Amino acid sequence: MNMDAEILTALRSSGAGSLSGTELAQRLGVSRAAVWARIEDLRALGYEITASPHGGYRLLSTPDVLHADDLLSRLGKTRVIGRDIRVFRETTSTNDIIEKLARDGVREGVVVFAESQTKGRGRLGRRWVSPRGAGLWFSILLRPVLRPHEATQLTIMAATALARAIREQTDFTLEVKWPNDILVGGRKVAGILTEPTAELDRIRHVVLGIGLDVNQAAGDFPPDLRRIATSLRAEAGRPFDRAELAVTVLRALDRDYLRLKEGQFEGLAAEWEQLCTTLGRDVTILLGSRRIRGRAESLDSEGALLVRTEHGRLERITGGDVTLAK
Ligand code: BTN
Repeated sequence: MNMDAEILTALRSSGAGSLSGTELAQRLGVSRAAVWARIEDLRALGYEITASPHGGYRLLSTPDVLHADDLLSRLGKTRVIGRDIRVFRETTSTNDIIEKLARDGVREGVVVFAESQTKGRGRLGRRWVSPRGAGLWFSILLRPVLRPHEATQLTIMAATALARAIREQTDFTLEVKWPNDILVGGRKVAGILTEPTAELDRIRHVVLGIGLDVNQAAGDFPPDLRRIATSLRAEAGRPFDRAELAVTVLRALDRDYLRLKEGQFEGLAAEWEQLCTTLGRDVTILLGSRRIRGRAESLDSEGALLVRTEHGRLERITGGDVTLAK
């Protein structure tokens, strides 16, 4: 942790109490003047920190901006995901940034958030609208020991973790639509874009991109999305603390990624199946120009969807666009 993260952690751990400059300086092993300079910088970022000559420093409120040090401070120690966090004010797509970091050899677990994306993308070449400060737009670098056809396991893992994290902060009934859509009240609130780079028999790395619509009002969505998209705020009728939500999601992902690494995909898949509204339903799947109709029966050990077609054959689906019959 760097100094800002340590200061925020110390101030948070003192709760409603305060910490003197001397105490902070001792904990951090720096001078009181250095502490003061960092506090001034945090204030400039919008952190409301009071200082009184006898009482010391107190953290009153934090701004609605994502700040890497603050996220690290709130997150605490994780095993893999979130060991390194970077925040951009604006970028094309956080998946692009992670892809570059992957090629530079950065170790797995780094997370890149952007306050806004100019070229946010979804599955099947769709755009992902990512307005400033309204949601969580982030990507994670993973280097799993998996074979290329097992990449869907990561999407299943991420959807399960994301749904659990959202449920921790809301009382929503969530549904997952295979493989990656998280729905509330039939509308999509989050999506996952898994972009693997693989050799013939192994995955080199995976960029796991997650978009979660948090604080948009219903009317903020472009007209063509209003019927199918929603945000946590639009559903709950109250805004959410994005930083708190972000660390809840990262913790859930870290936990479930470890389960996956330890070979526990079956447990994750079972949890996913509880959430999934695709199973047991009649579905239409568009695979390029091919259209498959049938009933979604189950998930196989690699995360693919098994569909009994109208002709009685069992098809293994690893991609494409799934529509649920009414
Ligand atoms: C989908 O549902 O089609 C997937 C949407 C994924 C959106 C996220 S936002 C962060 C990351 N960067 C992107 O460009 N896309 C993903």
